Amino acid sequence: MASLGERIASFFSGNDSTADEGLRDLFITNLKSVYYTEKRAVDALADQAEASTTDEVGQAFINHEQQSRNQVERLEEIFRIIGIRAEEHKSGAIDGLIHDAHWVITNTEPGSLTRDAGLIIAAQAIEHYEIAIYGSLLTLAHVLDFTQSAELLAVTLEEEKETDRKLTALAESFINSGSKEEEEHHPGSHHASLNSNFGSGSDVTLGGPLGV
Ligand SMILES: [Fe+2]
Repeated sequence: MASLGERIASFFSGNDSTADEGLRDLFITNLKSVYYTEKRAVDALADQAEASTTDEVGQAFINHEQQSRNQVERLEEIFRIIGIRAEEHKSGAIDGLIHDAHWVITNTEPGSLTRDAGLIIAAQAIEHYEIAIYGSLLTLAHVLDFTQSAELLAVTLEEEKETDRKLTALAESFINSGSKEEEEHHPGSHHASLNSNFGSGSDVTLGGPLGV
């Protein structure tokens, strides 16, 4: 068995066409998967904006919905650049994450701060997933020398990281203190509707930055 270093050296010297083809296929599959992800995210963000309690959280979802539409177009541009028809590859991961976001809407009181807290948690899970996929796609684009694609992917990746930072800031500066206030005025209400998801009596931890 060859070492990773040997295989990589062989790949970069152009002596490993199998790896080149395999990595190219991996890039295309992940591109189709993130294309599917962004399209589902656009729909989910509209629902989240409509369901949110506060103007700030609702506006954050509306802004990111528009941004996601631009990201869909950017992906279509990448499909054009590499000469592949734009197609979606179903992703069970994003389907599950969006299912969790809808769970928040059906299991929290309309107009409650708890709902916004839950929506932010669900939105950050989606962001972190997107960041992981775009990060991997960017690495593959560099390896495969897809320079133009890499530039476009880097723009989207930065947008996703910025959105994640904004959600963290919203969670820290607004929701944490707001939920605490709600808990003080209506003891127990803060935990009641989220207990089944986060464990009875445990606090809701918001906006955990992943260092991205
Ligand atoms: Fe996105």
